[in-house]
Amino acid sequence: VEHRPLYGRHVLVTAGPTHEPIDPVRYLANRSSGKQGYAIAAAAAAAGARVTLVSGPVHLRTPLGVDRIDVGSAQEMADAVREAMPADVAIMVAAVADWRPRDYIGEKIKKRGSAPPALILTENPDILASVAASANRPELLIGFAAETGNVVENARKKRKSKGVDWIVANDVSGDVMGGEDNEVHLVREGMVEKWDEMTKQDVAMKLVLQVADRLKVNA
Ligand code: C5P
Repeated sequence: VEHRPLYGRHVLVTAGPTHEPIDPVRYLANRSSGKQGYAIAAAAAAAGARVTLVSGPVHLRTPLGVDRIDVGSAQEMADAVREAMPADVAIMVAAVADWRPRDYIGEKIKKRGSAPPALILTENPDILASVAASANRPELLIGFAAETGNVVENARKKRKSKGVDWIVANDVSGDVMGGEDNEVHLVREGMVEKWDEMTKQDVAMKLVLQVADRLKVNA
């Protein structure tokens, strides 16, 4: 038990970007590589958890012992997350697109020599907020917050407004997205920890240890 502190627990992780289709060949996306979420899924599996990884489109290998569900859009991710529940812990690391094209065009949009088409966007479901509000809310719900300024301040607000237990906040104004290292703040109720810059694997291991400690306290 000591070296497999999450044995018997179900941990749900979301990772990667989402792709929001415009037409059969085009989409909107972001720079998320999925590395941090995959590292967390791997660390949770190594700690003995049953891990479901709901993954947007990434170029990464499935970590050992992880049950991976591939999705494309935010709406697909929301459905997969709902189906993967219940979980003891949910760690939502995915960089879900805030918006999607309102109208999916079933045929490749043609250049017509006239004005370029306008892209009208509509809001995506907030997966994290709906998990937080659901009847089977996980015992421990963790969100990530990628910010380019006022990191801790925004993370504090986000923790409250989304109804989550912890927020892992990182400043993505540098080369965090796609990079190997991460520098984060862990924002909990009434407490903020600044972690030194370390690899995404080390962030994952440190986070998983804290998760295990927290579940032990609640047990
Ligand atoms: O509000 P913001 O997008 O910065 O919140 C980030 C957190 O919310 C991350 O944990 C992300 O996975 C989650 N999120 C989500 N669904 C969305 C937007 C964000 O689950 N549509």
